[in-house]
Amino acid sequence: MTMPAAVADVDPRLLRRAMGQFATGVTVITTVTEGSAPAGCTVNAFTSLSLDPPLVLVCIGRGRAMHPLLTEGPGYAVNVLAADQEPLAGTFARPGPDRFAGVAVRSGRHGVPLLEGAIAHIECDRYGVLDGGDHAIVVGRVRDLHVGDGEPLLYSQGAFLDLPRQDWERATADARHEWLLSAPW
Ligand SMILES: Cc1cc2nc3c(=O)[nH]c(=O)nc-3n(C[C@H](O)[C@H](O)[C@H](O)COP(=O)(O)O)c2cc1C
Repeated sequence: MTMPAAVADVDPRLLRRAMGQFATGVTVITTVTEGSAPAGCTVNAFTSLSLDPPLVLVCIGRGRAMHPLLTEGPGYAVNVLAADQEPLAGTFARPGPDRFAGVAVRSGRHGVPLLEGAIAHIECDRYGVLDGGDHAIVVGRVRDLHVGDGEPLLYSQGAFLDLPRQDWERATADARHEWLLSAPW
């Protein structure tokens, strides 16, 4: 029987480079559980999943400190970083005694910290956990939303991008197509 190519057949560096060609926004996923300190982790493997019911998903590495909190805790918040929040993306990706030190937060659902200045907060209850190889896919049921002003921080090819305001204005002014306006994403 012919077996599909094993993952080991794929060059991991090439895989990383190919994935890096896909531009994303940047989020910090925050959570807290009973008996744990608040935790946060920079994540770009985040996407919307369903409108009805409203679901999103995040992929979290099995080795991450946050993995047990996300897969067993009551829920999490997705903080969509603004263009000027690149330092936070670094803080929440590096080891440190307290990633929240000096970071302005307020308390959301389940007491989960919400980062001030984020351009959106998406507050979720844990809906399900799926196997994602060396990551877990944590599906969240959206319960609360806050949308702020500002432009998103972008990430591609291993670099953070902060497009000038006029580029966003031009792009959003051009986004007048009916199919774009009526699309659910
Ligand atoms: C731009 C960017 C995107 C990242 N995306 C993810 C991701 O989607 N999932 C993940 O598990 N780790 C991701 N990471 C890595 C984690 O942020 C990092 O390994 C984690 O904060 C380490 O935390 P820990 O030492 O507490 O486990 C990303 C890092 C950066 C800088």
